[in-house]
Amino acid sequence: MLCRELFLTLLILRIKNNAVESCHFQNNISAVEEEPFYLKYCLSSSAHGNEAATIKWSKFNESLGWVELNPRPSPRITLHDYALEFWPVELKDQGRYLFQMGNSTQEWELKVTKRNKHSCFSEKQVTSKSVTVKKSFQINCSKNYYEKWINRTSLYKNCEKIEESSKKLLMVKNAKFEDQGYYSCVFSLLHNGKLYNLTSTFNITVLGDHTKRIPVYLGPKFNRVEVELGESIELNCSALANQNDAVYWNFQKENETHVNVHEKEGKEIWISEGKEYVSKILKIEKVNEKNIGFLYNCTVGDTVSMDTQSFILVRKGTTDIPNHVFTRGMIISILISVAVVCLVILCVIFRVDLVLFYRHLVGRNETLTDGKTYDAFVSYLKECHSESGAEYTFAVETLPKVLEKHFGYKLCIFERDVVPGGAVVDEIHSLIEKSRRIIIVLSKSYMSNEVIYELKSGLHKALVERKVKIILIQFSPVSDFVFLPQSLKLLKSHRVLKWKADEPLSYNSRFWKNLVYLMPAKVTKPGQEESEDLPVLSVP
Ligand SMILES: *[C@@H]1O[C@H](CO)[C@@H](O)[C@H](O)[C@H]1NC(C)=O
Ligand SMILES: *[C@@H]1O[C@H](CO)[C@@H](O)[C@H](O)[C@H]1NC(C)=O
Ligand SMILES: *[C@@H]1O[C@H](CO)[C@@H](O)[C@H](O)[C@H]1NC(C)=O
Ligand SMILES: *[C@@H]1O[C@H](CO)[C@@H](O)[C@H](O)[C@H]1NC(C)=O
Ligand SMILES: *[C@@H]1O[C@H](CO)[C@@H](O)[C@H](O)[C@H]1NC(C)=O
Ligand SMILES: *[C@@H]1O[C@H](CO)[C@@H](O)[C@H](O)[C@H]1NC(C)=O
Ligand SMILES: *[C@@H]1O[C@H](CO)[C@@H](O)[C@H](O)[C@H]1NC(C)=O
Ligand SMILES: *[C@@H]1O[C@H](CO)[C@@H](O)[C@H](O)[C@H]1NC(C)=O
Ligand SMILES: *[C@@H]1O[C@H](CO)[C@@H](O)[C@H](O)[C@H]1NC(C)=O
Ligand SMILES: *[C@@H]1O[C@H](CO)[C@@H](O)[C@H](O)[C@H]1NC(C)=O
Repeated sequence: MLCRELFLTLLILRIKNNAVESCHFQNNISAVEEEPFYLKYCLSSSAHGNEAATIKWSKFNESLGWVELNPRPSPRITLHDYALEFWPVELKDQGRYLFQMGNSTQEWELKVTKRNKHSCFSEKQVTSKSVTVKKSFQINCSKNYYEKWINRTSLYKNCEKIEESSKKLLMVKNAKFEDQGYYSCVFSLLHNGKLYNLTSTFNITVLGDHTKRIPVYLGPKFNRVEVELGESIELNCSALANQNDAVYWNFQKENETHVNVHEKEGKEIWISEGKEYVSKILKIEKVNEKNIGFLYNCTVGDTVSMDTQSFILVRKGTTDIPNHVFTRGMIISILISVAVVCLVILCVIFRVDLVLFYRHLVGRNETLTDGKTYDAFVSYLKECHSESGAEYTFAVETLPKVLEKHFGYKLCIFERDVVPGGAVVDEIHSLIEKSRRIIIVLSKSYMSNEVIYELKSGLHKALVERKVKIILIQFSPVSDFVFLPQSLKLLKSHRVLKWKADEPLSYNSRFWKNLVYLMPAKVTKPGQEESEDLPVLSVP
């Protein structure tokens, strides 16, 4: 008993559903030209069974009012029970239609849209559906009303055929993001020997999980933005969030500090891979000093969960030296270094000339206050039989000629200035004491017993007492000297001059310059005679 009742209820529901599905409840209906179309009265249960009542279809004409449609069947428009069929519908069929049966009526307004010649479907005739990713979704290509005429059914995705069937067609699958698109069911209807296409299109959107998410900013939570004064910039606050989340910039909008700061109207929302993003732009026109260093905060979220992203403007170039300035600086410093190195090298090369020039320029004289008589004591090989030797000529003739006559120095040459005999040793000692320099004319034969005292005494003074400086003039290379005292080898190389006897030297030659350089600074009076300066010391 219970079972039978249940079965009946189900049966009635099924019939009702079918009727509901095929008839048109809504008043505004649109159709696409050149497609089969029908209008069907939704039979109410109260009207059911009133079979005797005549059925009347009318179309509204602006000048004539309601005009009854010819009940005789025509090839294109047919009356069929409670339905008015178009094979196919045309643009001129647009208008208001009225169904009358007894005192029950139904009215529709039909809009016929033009066919889209460039697409397999008309965008105005799509049914939008959203499906959740990974959830099952189906494309159900079936038209109950036209079931008996369906010859073939094809399914297109974005106008590319993906499936075909001779009757109904059903596609069921788990939604993936790439499944999003336009699905068109194209029914081929065979009516009175003619084929008609009927298209219904679903706009499928695949959505991500709708579980509420906590906003996640794209980019860091704290942003430094480099700007130049006067530049206009846009701060882009964007987050992975929920579509309905609020997004706003917080700064005192009324504050005159921020007159050049505006929030762009409206939030940008986009969905990528089923995830919802929101963003809001803050425009800062002609950045000024007041905008620098201010924290511009952006908040995304709802009352439950919200988060803040901060932006701070910093002046461009405060952290890094611009590239071109850096390069220029490098080049300049390299050039300066090169110039300094060259200058130092030149100074080293022309040191002697520079010092001599300086002495001349300043008129420096070291000899005035030290209480010494001679500028240099000349020590050389003194052998009776070799008076005509090269050393002798050099020491007794060349040196005085140049140093005394030309440069105005006063030399002490034992042979010349001291009368032989007496306490030679004491006298030499005393003469060295009165001299500012010792000029040792060094040759192979120098190491004879007679001069060795002079040498030792001079070296002692120079190296131990530091009272007198030694100038060594070499006649032969130093390597030739086997018995050269150790202390002489310690002499700085610039205090050793090499005499080239075979080359005639002018006063401006390097040899003489170097010698004068090693001599004490003195205001030179060329041509000064030594006659007035007779040796103070004479052997009694
Ligand atoms: C039907 O459409 C017309 C114009 O498109 C509109 O004025 C009217 O309100 C609509 N009626 C309904 C019930 O939607
Ligand atoms: C209304 O009726 C007149 C006369 O029958 C006809 O010429 C005209 O096209 C009709 N208008 C519409 C909109 O159907
Ligand atoms: C109209 O419908 C009502 C009930 O809804 C019925 O009582 C009445 O007789 C009907 N009139 C005609 C003319 O059919
Ligand atoms: C299809 O659905 C998407 C997402 O809902 C929408 O943006 C788009 O406008 C729809 N297309 C048509 C033709 O209605
Ligand atoms: C497909 O749709 C038709 C009517 O539109 C319905 O009768 C049928 O049950 C549907 N099929 C599925 C599997 O939902
Ligand atoms: C579909 O139509 C073709 C002719 O256009 C006919 O040969 C074929 O039998 C029809 N198929 C069905 C299932 O009606
Ligand atoms: C129906 O659509 C098919 C392709 O789907 C096309 O070849 C055919 O010409 C169309 N027929 C009509 C009457 O539009
Ligand atoms: C803001 O940033 C988002 C993500 O980087 C981007 O998609 C959007 O187009 C940006 N908006 C503007 C106006 O630049
Ligand atoms: C404007 O803002 C600045 C800094 O944010 C603040 O010192 C000043 O008091 C504010 N002025 C007004 C009128 O709110
Ligand atoms: C912006 O945010 C930072 C830290 O999130 C906060 O210290 C600062 O007070 C905020 N500034 C404003 C104007 O809301």
